[in-house]
Amino acid sequence: MASSRREFIKASAVGVAAAATGLPLASLADGKEARQGRPLNILILGGTGFIGPHMVREALRRGHSVTLFNRGRSNNTLFPDLETIKGDRDNGLDGLKDRKWDAVIDNSGYVPRHVEDSARLLAPNVSRYVFISTVSVYADFSTPNHEDSPLATLVDETVEEVTGETYGALKALCEQRAAGEIDADKLAVLRPTYICGPGDHTDRFSYWPVRTRKGGEMLWPGSPDDNVQIIDVRDLANFTVDCVDREIRGTYNMVNANAYSMGELLEDCRAVTAASVDPVWIDADFLASKGLAGGRDFPIWHGADGFAKFSADRAVRAGMHNRPERETARDLLTWWDTLPAERTASTRAGLSPDKEAEVLAAWKALGN
Ligand SMILES: NC(=O)c1ccc[n+]([C@@H]2O[C@H](COP(=O)([O-])OP(=O)(O)OC[C@H]3O[C@@H](n4cnc5c(N)ncnc54)[C@H](OP(=O)(O)O)[C@@H]3O)[C@@H](O)[C@H]2O)c1
Repeated sequence: MASSRREFIKASAVGVAAAATGLPLASLADGKEARQGRPLNILILGGTGFIGPHMVREALRRGHSVTLFNRGRSNNTLFPDLETIKGDRDNGLDGLKDRKWDAVIDNSGYVPRHVEDSARLLAPNVSRYVFISTVSVYADFSTPNHEDSPLATLVDETVEEVTGETYGALKALCEQRAAGEIDADKLAVLRPTYICGPGDHTDRFSYWPVRTRKGGEMLWPGSPDDNVQIIDVRDLANFTVDCVDREIRGTYNMVNANAYSMGELLEDCRAVTAASVDPVWIDADFLASKGLAGGRDFPIWHGADGFAKFSADRAVRAGMHNRPERETARDLLTWWDTLPAERTASTRAGLSPDKEAEVLAAWKALGN
């Protein structure tokens, strides 16, 4: 099941280098009421990629102060009013020395040494630490995973190159290094699955509503009953700031708690686009015979495997809320329509129109 992890990170890695633009401001109606407690000083390691800006805005909305730490390469004009400490997680942490914060949100940790260095430096000077990990940390995706399932490991733990093969195990090591430096009563580790919503530069979820909107005959992989699991970036941001506000500690899968299927995704895409689409469901074996795979060619779809069945129970008990996927699809399209035409000319994930037509023709040639 390494392929699940490989396809998941491949698109994430594309996103690491890409810019997120045009994020809508969080509104009061979008989350809960602004918090009543003491305003906190929060340091966000990252903060200007995809998920970071949603966390920044949610923290500000609740009345907290935010400091950013990054290299200044990505979207560096996004938050002109916030203090930004320029530095590199790779041996460039000087700007963090001798500073105190109430909490740290670490969403740019991919390399264990980087996570260990920053956690060690910050541990004496912070009282809460949230590390953003991933569901790719698990060892086996053939079955559903809960937070105590076995984790992926590296044969050589000195490896630092982040690839489709190493991403999950590196993130598992990052979790362990954070836990080695931060007391358990201060640490929360969040493991999101596909993070979707406005600002998602990977186009993995976007492919489906964007393609549906074009209408006509449309290839859908596998079965309408196949499970699919995402988390809306705003729900992740809410729970992340909850971890800070409510001192939530421990490890949590960050996945939608409601059961959701490819068939329901189709219905949601139809509902938010009002498009007339004629779905053609093609079975997984035929697609595999054409060299097509879930996760890569059909983003977020993993057939019947456990990548769409992570347990959300622990997070739900801790207060995580999920909005309906239809809302994610609707808001994604609204954001998509604000992007420049050259950006939206094609999606960064999913089948090209030519490939889709070719596979549909081959399927129909068999009398289907
Ligand atoms: N996208 C998904 O579906 C998904 C799913 C599961 C988990 N995750 C996790 O979510 C996090 C990624 O979130 P994202 O998409 O918002 O991140 P991102 O797009 O990779 O953004 C990274 C942020 O970190 C900063 N940064 C990157 N490298 C740095 C370095 N060496 N030193 C200092 N700052 C650095 C970037 O700013 P500069 O470039 O200016 O330095 C930027 O602010 C990762 O922890 C990933 O494992 C993502």
